[in-house]
This record gives sequence, C-alpha cells and structure tokens, in this order.
Amino acid sequence: MRWLPLFAVVLMLAGCGPAEQAAGSANGDLDGGALYLDHCAVCHGYDARGTDRGPDLHWRVRGMSVEEIADVIILGQGAMKPLDLDDDEADTVAFFLLDVLVAE
Ligand code: HEC
Repeated sequence: MRWLPLFAVVLMLAGCGPAEQAAGSANGDLDGGALYLDHCAVCHGYDARGTDRGPDLHWRVRGMSVEEIADVIILGQGAMKPLDLDDDEADTVAFFLLDVLVAE
C-alpha cells in the first residue's frame, strides 16, 4: 500500500486530466493573443482587419458564438482550411477574437 500515495501525487503533478480540462474556462493557461498572432494574423491581420489572404473579421464574427468560431477554426470553412488547433486552443482564440479584437 505504500505505492498508493505516491501514485496520487504523480497524478496531481500530471495535472491536465480530462476532468480538469472540462472544468477549466476557455482561457485556462492558454494565451488567446499569442495564439491569434501565431495562427490567424498572417491571413486576418494583427487587428483582424484582414489582409489579401483573409477577410476582415470585424463584421463577420459579430453574432457568431465562441463555439461557431471554434468550429470554423477546427473544421475550416470555404477558402479557410482547417487549422491544427485543439478544442481548448480554438475556444481560447475564438474568445480572444470576440472579446478583445472585435469588441467595441
Ligand atoms: C491561410 C489563411 C487563414 C488563416 C491562417 C486563418 N484564416 Fe480565417 N479565413 C480565411 C479565409 C480566406 C476566410 C474566408 C472563408 C470563406 O468564407 O470562404 C476566413 C474566414 C474566417 C472566419 C469567418 C467565417 C464566416 O462565417 O464568415 C472566421 C471567424 C475566421 N476565419 C477566423 C480565423 C481564426 C480565429 C484564425 C486563427 C485561429 C484564422 N481564421 C486563420 C483565411 C485564414
């Protein structure tokens, strides 16, 4: 039985189990701004005003939910190909887009 406490400690240190991810907010430890710069700005611009590779997002994302934007990121849409982000990352960047970039 001496192993049991050790096992528990290892589990705690390992952290991010599925339960913890589900309980965490869309933000968690992820940085939406950094994710946006890494994955979106190249086409949509640093300020989401668009470039010749992707449209201005300001008017497009109004009325979209975080889930809908996350779906576009993960599944792609039209000329935008699916991006290699997991659910948490997609939620976080979608939240950042709505709450910071296109918020008035
Ligand atoms: C390779 C270029 C490219 C990258 C990278 C890219 N997009 Fe796009 N995105 C596009 C293009 C092109 C469209 C227009 C798609 C269409 O409707 O045909 C688009 C459309 C969208 C839309 C609008 C969907 C709608 O219903 O009008 C959203 C929201 C969006 N992108 C969010 C993002 C986010 C967030 C990221 C980063 C995680 C991202 N995009 C990365 C090119 C890109």
